[in-house]
Amino acid sequence: MCGIVGYVGKREASPLLMDGLRRLEYRGYDSAGICTLDARGLHLRKCVGRVAALADTLRREPVRGTLGISHTRWATHGLPSNANAHPHLDESGRLAIVHNGIIENYAELRRGLVERGHHFRSQTDTEVLAHLVGQHLKKLVAHGKHATAGLLTRAVQEATREAEGTYAIAVLHSDLPELLIGARRGSPLVVGVGQGEQFLASDVSPIVPHTRQVVYLHDGDVVCLTRDGLELFARGKPIHRPVDSVDWSSEQAEMGRFPHYMLKEIHEQPQRVSEELKRTLRPAQGGVEFEEMALSRKELARIRRLLLVACGTSWHAALAGEYVIENLAGVPVEVECASEMRYRNRPLEKDTLVVSISQSGETADTLAAIRGARARGVSTLAIVNVVGSTIARESDADIYMRAGPEIGVASTKAFEMQVLLLTLLGIALGRQRGHLSAAQGRKLVRELQTLPGKIQRIIDGDARILEVAKKFYRLTDFLYMGRQYNFPVALEGALKLKELSYIHAEGYPSAEMKHGPIAMIAPDFPSVFVVPRDAMFDKNMSNLEEIKARKGPIIAVATQGDKRVAKMADAVIFIPATLDCLQPLLTVIPLQLLAYHIAVLRGCDVDKPRNLAKSVTVE
Ligand code: AGP
Repeated sequence: MCGIVGYVGKREASPLLMDGLRRLEYRGYDSAGICTLDARGLHLRKCVGRVAALADTLRREPVRGTLGISHTRWATHGLPSNANAHPHLDESGRLAIVHNGIIENYAELRRGLVERGHHFRSQTDTEVLAHLVGQHLKKLVAHGKHATAGLLTRAVQEATREAEGTYAIAVLHSDLPELLIGARRGSPLVVGVGQGEQFLASDVSPIVPHTRQVVYLHDGDVVCLTRDGLELFARGKPIHRPVDSVDWSSEQAEMGRFPHYMLKEIHEQPQRVSEELKRTLRPAQGGVEFEEMALSRKELARIRRLLLVACGTSWHAALAGEYVIENLAGVPVEVECASEMRYRNRPLEKDTLVVSISQSGETADTLAAIRGARARGVSTLAIVNVVGSTIARESDADIYMRAGPEIGVASTKAFEMQVLLLTLLGIALGRQRGHLSAAQGRKLVRELQTLPGKIQRIIDGDARILEVAKKFYRLTDFLYMGRQYNFPVALEGALKLKELSYIHAEGYPSAEMKHGPIAMIAPDFPSVFVVPRDAMFDKNMSNLEEIKARKGPIIAVATQGDKRVAKMADAVIFIPATLDCLQPLLTVIPLQLLAYHIAVLRGCDVDKPRNLAKSVTVE
């Protein structure tokens, strides 16, 4: 998704804006640009390609000014090109804007502007928005006079009312060298509150190195920033929003000793799991307690069913949660891919709890799905990683993943924390409903407490996983298989390989293989089997036999010391034993590392896979 960074203060804007863009690169993009303002006017630089290419341009043609905006563009309207890169100017050339979102009625607006003599340089909806703001401002400013902060604010309000669709924008005007304006509807935008300087960004990553005091804008908000502070407006009226404090440091968002963010984030998992268990487990009672669960015990007690909604990796976590919660709590659970649910007219009973799962808390499809649920009077719970994100704010209750910033586009620690939290939610519901006894709860708690060490042991065995990757990385098709708790893990393993290495991979329930996929098995078509010692072990072994009989190579994730699998498989990655319902928390780790190593061996851009964005804030 596009990334926005804005600055107004005492320092030169350009270095700060460029550092901010580097911290947003993980969002995925194809071009970048910057615009600053100094006494000589606006200075605009933009180019196709990486932020590094823009930095090269700035070395040749530097820009000055203590006010500026910058942008990384993930193309929606119009090809990646210099002309389509942001910032865009209005007809006067005195107003600059950057934008994340989609203006649905841009074609109609553009036609109207062209009829009134406007000229466009790009194919983008954003340039139309720039011209629209400029046109509203022109009407408001008396001929020959300068624009004022109030008039520019009003022009932004009027133009964004006329525009349909989603936006997060940052705006500056050459008449107003001290003013940065931001506005949002349906795309995230955060204010960083500094000392004598203010920041605007799509998420907190560019802000945290300078200040951890932030204001999360809500839909419909317009904010006016000067070096001395901010003024917030909603529907034209001044409003106040609380200043939040970001709960992680910029060091946590750095790569540190690792070659890639993704590998760092895989290695963080034992620590994050351990921290959550310390926060939430109540060993003596054999239960759990969520610090911030705002749903009362009474509200939880009246829940008769759960509906989990998510996209991508988070959807896989939801699928794992379905098995776990049904087993631990005896509550019927359904899972919906959010992009499907938002357009379905599915019946929703009032005693349903809709649980959204989202690392970014900004995924458009997931947000739309919970908005639909809330419109029908159903309670919503969000499991999200970003404090103050739109999904968190629009849900009745939130459970924060506290995974720390996840920069790698391929989600790893987020999946782990989502599955862990769904497991803990299952224990909470199970204990509260009497489906899980205190003794059963204590047994689960004891095993959960061993997980951080077990995850670490798998990570410590990474050299073996690299050996497996070296053996198979040149192949072009993979089948991933697992049963019950490990079927979602098979889906997740396949997605990791696809999105990182661009290799075709499919996840299937093992038993489904004979209903079609087995036709693909051949000596150059490996199957990755998640086959730990659990209740499905013998059934899985039959499937392995079927693959073996057809000379299909087998990569197995198996329980430490399992000789039967070792004899059958061409490559085995061993993991420690655990309870069946906790298996996904361990079996996913080798698949994350396998996908990582195969991607590196194939020379892929691990942290920024092609065409992908970290947070999909458009449909
Ligand atoms: C997974 O590795 C991808 N990054 C993607 O599928 C992601 O899980 C999906 O877009 C959902 O994102 P969210 O968790 O931020 O809602």
